Amino acid sequence: MGFVVAIDGPAASGKGSIASRLGGVLRFPVLDTGLLYRAAGVALERSGEDLDDEAAAGSVARSLRPGDLEGEALRTREAGEAASRVAVHPAVRSALLDFQRTFAAREPGAILDGRDIGTVVVPGAACKLFVTASPEVRARRRHTQLSAQGDPATYEAVLEDIRRRDARDGERAAAPMRRAADAVLLDTTDLDIDAAFDAALRIVEASRDRWERS
Ligand code: CDP
Repeated sequence: MGFVVAIDGPAASGKGSIASRLGGVLRFPVLDTGLLYRAAGVALERSGEDLDDEAAAGSVARSLRPGDLEGEALRTREAGEAASRVAVHPAVRSALLDFQRTFAAREPGAILDGRDIGTVVVPGAACKLFVTASPEVRARRRHTQLSAQGDPATYEAVLEDIRRRDARDGERAAAPMRRAADAVLLDTTDLDIDAAFDAALRIVEASRDRWERS
């Protein structure tokens, strides 16, 4: 395995922006694993099946193709909600595991962001970050993003989404969102994206020095 950076944390904590900027600096491929769950949720909804139907959700997750990971439909509020509902099913999580682990095995390294990368997908990752921020700040960021996409949802509705998703993702039995014991906590509540990225880069560089010496 190369130098893997595992970035976990709740919705709109900044982990996606940090991951993509780190990818540019390190020149490593980046996998936004949330897209896999979003694609599974959206495909299941389109097929008219119930999001709570584990067997149907597992079968949709097993048949995802790379082209299913593209498109604006995955970025909506509804897609985020559908993703977190299908993400509770062990059949869905296990269907998506191989793809994520194969990606993580790319040389000379890879960056993955999600909820369970440091705990379940790549527990041996050389660098683990858990990126968080207060629910209010995360809701403000997500509200700005959604408004730019033309979504009329209010700040209050987005805050409620965030709280509901935090609870569902943190309380589910299968691979709940947790900070790995060896993950560095990065709270971005009072940081803009440049400051959050600088802090993340310092953590990654320190891990890389240790990893290269080991
Ligand atoms: O961008 P945002 O943080 O809102 O969501 P995302 O990272 O695209 O993830 C959407 C949902 O997928 C999350 O709420 C989780 O329920 C689920 N997910 C997961 O269970 N495990 C992952 N590794 C990534 C996402």
